[in-house]
Amino acid sequence: MQIAVLGLNHGYTFAKQIKEMKGLTLAAVAGNNAAAMERANELEVPLYQDYKKLIDQCQLDGVIITLPNHLHKEAVKYCADQGLHCLVEKPIADTTDAAREMIDYCEQKQVMLMVGHHRRFSEKINHLKQLLASDIIGELVGVNMVWALAKDRNYYKEAWRIKASGGPLLINGIHDLDNLLYVTNLKIESAYAIACNKIRGFEVEDAVTAILEASDGTVIHYFLTDGVPSPWSYEFNVMENPIYHFYEEDCYHFFGTKGSLAFPSFRCFRYSEDQYGWKHALKEERFTLEAPGDPITAELEHFEAVLKGDISPRVTGEEGLKTLEILEAINLSVQEKRKVSLRSE
Ligand SMILES: NC(=O)c1ccc[n+]([C@@H]2O[C@H](COP(=O)([O-])OP(=O)(O)OC[C@H]3O[C@@H](n4cnc5c(N)ncnc54)[C@H](O)[C@@H]3O)[C@@H](O)[C@H]2O)c1
Repeated sequence: MQIAVLGLNHGYTFAKQIKEMKGLTLAAVAGNNAAAMERANELEVPLYQDYKKLIDQCQLDGVIITLPNHLHKEAVKYCADQGLHCLVEKPIADTTDAAREMIDYCEQKQVMLMVGHHRRFSEKINHLKQLLASDIIGELVGVNMVWALAKDRNYYKEAWRIKASGGPLLINGIHDLDNLLYVTNLKIESAYAIACNKIRGFEVEDAVTAILEASDGTVIHYFLTDGVPSPWSYEFNVMENPIYHFYEEDCYHFFGTKGSLAFPSFRCFRYSEDQYGWKHALKEERFTLEAPGDPITAELEHFEAVLKGDISPRVTGEEGLKTLEILEAINLSVQEKRKVSLRSE
């Protein structure tokens, strides 16, 4: 299978792994800055400054799109015109309108569209999903999720990241919201959120707090910031990417009628039936998972099987859109200072 990677920052992770995989060949890469040039040299593959030229000139079976969010729609449609199946990074697009257009276009052109929510391939996330489904904490009542860290100051030099189509909610928050939907199967019905930009003063948020309500009455609280030194975030706690320091902390807490579960420690607190209530001691158990694999590798192997026609994408365009709808509702709530309904009347 001949693959091209468009974008060579996050895309570099894919490109390096593809070089190591038996079933995939890295045919070419696209990037338009000095780092991309250096990386393409190191990968020993042709570099195209204009990704459209790459699509026009290379014989490909599939394309991985890791361009800035606002370019996802244009790139997916360009690939679809050539009959090429795509793995597009999350968020599927910068707006839900763009995402809908991409999904419909791919369907019309009969190409497969997969969205890069790679944490759905994380063994820890899948373990969490199984535990929640297994009833160990009973019926879910509430969820608390935190994503708080400080990014490098250089990070904000990339102009698209501080405009409305970038920002920590769209770049990072989308992961946590997708995890929430995936592990709980909840249907979110409304969002109320407040944001501030008191740290950097950019167009996009520095911090957001959101309250979500699910159709079964479950309530969710989510706090996100990328401008505060803190050890509580998926990246720092789950240990799936070696570039980050590890802190043995929890970033998600799930509260049920029978007990509570923390992630990723998988510490679970419950009472026994005959000693229930706050005057008794909670029993602590750990549902640890040993030696989980790398979710990006699993995602690539899945994409390879999709290209071979063995399976259909596990994270479809519709799934990517569902997650983006929540994010858009959060943004609308921030702008209009009101609770936003996601219920389709
Ligand atoms: N799944 C994850 O964990 C994860 C992590 C990081 C980024 N991402 C996603 O990947 C995408 C890219 O993010 P990033 O941080 O790598 O962005 P970036 O701005 O750092 O890099 C973008 C890359 O695209 C190239 N590029 C930009 N415009 C181009 C054009 N017109 N033609 C050819 N090349 C072009 C640049 O040269 C660069 O190599 C975003 O959608 C982001 O949300 C996902």
